[in-house]
Amino acid sequence: MEIIRNPQDMQDQALKWRAAGQRIVLVPTMGFFHQGHLSLMEYGRKVGDCLVVSLFVNPTQFGPQEDLAQYPRDFDRDCELAQQIGVDVLFVPEAESMYPPGYQTYVTVEEVTQGLCGACRPTHFRGVTTVVLKLFNLVQPQIAVFGEKDYQQLITIQRLVVDLNLPLAVVGRPIVREADGLAMSSRNLYLNPTERQTALCLYRAGQAAQKLVAGGEVARERIMAVVQQLLNHSPETIIDYMALVDPSTLAEIDTVRGAARLALAVRIGQTRLIDNFLLEESRS
Ligand code: PAJ
Repeated sequence: MEIIRNPQDMQDQALKWRAAGQRIVLVPTMGFFHQGHLSLMEYGRKVGDCLVVSLFVNPTQFGPQEDLAQYPRDFDRDCELAQQIGVDVLFVPEAESMYPPGYQTYVTVEEVTQGLCGACRPTHFRGVTTVVLKLFNLVQPQIAVFGEKDYQQLITIQRLVVDLNLPLAVVGRPIVREADGLAMSSRNLYLNPTERQTALCLYRAGQAAQKLVAGGEVARERIMAVVQQLLNHSPETIIDYMALVDPSTLAEIDTVRGAARLALAVRIGQTRLIDNFLLEESRS
């Protein structure tokens, strides 16, 4: 595995691969790999010739009060894990080379970034779409792989690619969970043992909602009453949002017709956790 730090070197390599007819796959990450990240890389390894994983803790997507400085990092372990999967290039740019002095260009996807996480993190998605567009230009992938864990991010990137006619396919991959159902996240390590137990409320709420809808319940009010009760099970949980949305527009819906996404964000102690669930009416 090659480690590339310089953005220009990355683009030169990508253009060489392209000229040689290679299919490039990109998995963008902020590092501190867990099985969720690795599942995206394993998928990427299968569908492409050249697999690039970017590792960049992108400052423009963190708000001033957020955890940029504390964001967990373990470069040596990440290298080892990426190597084991057969990643060709780990692209690890410095913030100064991605955003040099004088930098002033940002790309904004409008409607789908306004609700859910966008409401409490107003500059977050602008940072995500800007860095992802830069990564697409540097790595020139035909396929880019994202996790459904960050569902609003996935929908936003899909919108970006369609709206700006970018010549690549965005693939969304399923959420990888711990054995007890907690969605894997780099931020789970902030949880103490009691908070770790409390965090299961997200999965319990999602499962209950899935069961209700599969059993024929379509009314938002009744589904969300159950979700709220399960999220509020322990007093230390603060609900940032709980939303029942159209899976492609992220617009709030009152009635489930076919399928919906339940999107959840809670704060447990100092840690903010997000999760989401596909709710499907059963066809029988
Ligand atoms: P990061 O949080 O490191 O996540 C990198 C990718 O891993 C994202 O596509 C995310 O959805 C996916 N992922 C995280 N946890 C997952 C899980 N439990 N199961 C499946 N996939 C999971 O998301 C970012 O970084 C950044 O915003 C980035 C896109 C790299 C832009 O800076």
